Amino acid sequence: MSDKTYDLVIIGAGPGGYVAAIRAAQLGLRVACIEKEKNLGGTCLRVGCIPSKALLDSSELYAQAKQKFSTHGIVVDNISLDLKKMLKRKEKVVKTLTGGVASLLKKNKVERLQGTAKIISPNCVEVLNDTSSRLNTTSILVASGSVPAELPFLPFDGERIVCSTEALSFSTVPSRLIVIGAGPIGLELGSVWSRLGSQVLVVEAMERIVAGADVELSTQLQKVLEKQGIEFKLGASVKAATVGDKDVSIEIALASGETVTETADRILVAVGRKPYTDGLGLEDIGVICDERGCINVNDQFQTTVPGIYAIGDVVSGPMLAHKAEEEGLACAEIIAGQVSQVNYQAIPSVVYTWPELASVGLTEEQALEDYEEIASGRFPFMANGRARAADDCDGLVKIITDKKTDRIIGVHILGARASDLIAEATIVMEFGGSAEDIARTCHAHPTFSETIKEAALDVAGRVIHK
Ligand code: NAI
Repeated sequence: MSDKTYDLVIIGAGPGGYVAAIRAAQLGLRVACIEKEKNLGGTCLRVGCIPSKALLDSSELYAQAKQKFSTHGIVVDNISLDLKKMLKRKEKVVKTLTGGVASLLKKNKVERLQGTAKIISPNCVEVLNDTSSRLNTTSILVASGSVPAELPFLPFDGERIVCSTEALSFSTVPSRLIVIGAGPIGLELGSVWSRLGSQVLVVEAMERIVAGADVELSTQLQKVLEKQGIEFKLGASVKAATVGDKDVSIEIALASGETVTETADRILVAVGRKPYTDGLGLEDIGVICDERGCINVNDQFQTTVPGIYAIGDVVSGPMLAHKAEEEGLACAEIIAGQVSQVNYQAIPSVVYTWPELASVGLTEEQALEDYEEIASGRFPFMANGRARAADDCDGLVKIITDKKTDRIIGVHILGARASDLIAEATIVMEFGGSAEDIARTCHAHPTFSETIKEAALDVAGRVIHK
C-alpha cells in the first residue's frame, strides 16, 4: 500500500474526466485520473460515439456504393462487404484515439492510474487493482459515466439480447435485427446494420421516434428511414421474450391492442442509459443521488459532500460527451478557484443517421409552452443548390425565435452534414443572436449552410429561394 498526495483525484477517464484532468493540470493542479479500463476515453471513445461513427461512415459508403453511385454515373460491379475489415478499421480508429488520450494525459503530467476507485473520505480515494493504494487529495471529481439500461424481462446475454457494445462488433450481419428503443442509439446502430443488409425492425414505446426532438423533423426522419428499409412499430411495448438456440422471439403489445410475435437473430435493447456509480462507496460517505441514480450537484458541480464534485452522465442532464466535456472544463476551473459555468441553453444534440438530425435549444412544442409568441422559418434542402449537386435533398432547417425580440431560441436541422451545420446555430445562440443576424451574414455559395441563412430569412417572410 502506497500513499500519494494530489490536489485533485478524478474518477473516470471519459470525455468528462480526462478533459477536466487536462484543464486542472493546465491550471497548475497536481492531478491523478483513475480509470478501471485499460483504454482511456470512456464509453465515447471505446464503445460509443467514436466506434459507432466509424461504422456509420463505413456503412454509409457501402450503401452509397450500392444505391447511389450509379445515379452519379459511376459504374461499380460486384460490390461486396468485408465485415471483418470494416470492424478492424473501426478498432484502429478507436485505438488511435484512446492512445491519443493517454499521450495527452502524459503531456499534461496527469498521473494515470488503472484500477477501480473507492472513495474512503472526502480526502482519500482507494485504487484497487492487483494491489491497493490510497491517494490523499484536496478534491475529488466523480466522472464515472453511465451504462446501458436493461429491460427486466430481457436481460442482456451478450449474444441474442445485446446492448450497444455488442452491436458494434457483430461478426456477421444479422439477417433480422430487432431494435428496442427509437432513441439515438437504436436509430444509429439500426441504420448501420440495415445498410449492411439486415432487415431491421424498431420497436418504440412512444408514438414517435427521437422523443426529445422537434416533432416535425423527427416525423420526417422516420419517413426517410422507412424509405431506407427500416420498419417501425410505434406505441408498442415489448412484453416477453423467448430465447432459442438460433433466434429470439418477443411479444409486442401494439397500440391497437393487438399482440404480435416477432422473431430475429438478435435484439438490440437501446432504451436508455443509467448513471454508473457501483463500488464508489458514495452512500457510505454521504453523497446523495436522486431516484434515477444521478448524483445530486449544485451549479458549481459540488455534491452533498464538500470537496467532492461530479460531472457528465453521472449527474442529471443529457448524456452527451460534449456536455460532459463542458462540465469537465468548468468544474476544473471552479476547483482551481476560477469563476466558470456551462450554458445549458446552447448544447447541441445530434442523431447520426443519414440524413443527420441535429438540434440546439427549444423544440417548437417547448417554445410554444415557454414563450408568449414565437416565430419560425423553414427551408428545405431540396431547394438548396449544393444539396441538389450532391443529390442529398432530404430534410429541412427550422429556426424558432422569440417573436418579440427575434432572438433565436431553437434551431433544428434534418439533412446532410447537419452535425456540422448545427455549430453555426449554437454559436449564434451562445451570443444571444437573432434570426436577422444570420439572415444578414454572407454565407458561401453553394454550400449546405445557405439552408440556415434561408431559414433565417424565412422567419421574417423574406426567403429568396423558396
Ligand atoms: P434514449 O433514452 O435516448 O431513447 C430510448 C428510447 O427507448 C425512448 O424513446 C424510449 O421511449 C424507448 N423505450 C424505453 N423502454 C421501452 C420499451 N420497453 N419498449 C420500447 N421502447 C422503449 O436512449 P438511447 O438511444 O439508448 O441513448 C442513451 C443515451 O445515450 C441518451 O441519453 C442519448 O442521448 C445518449 N446517446 C447519444 C448519442 C448521440 O448524441 N448521437 C448517441 C448514443 C447515445
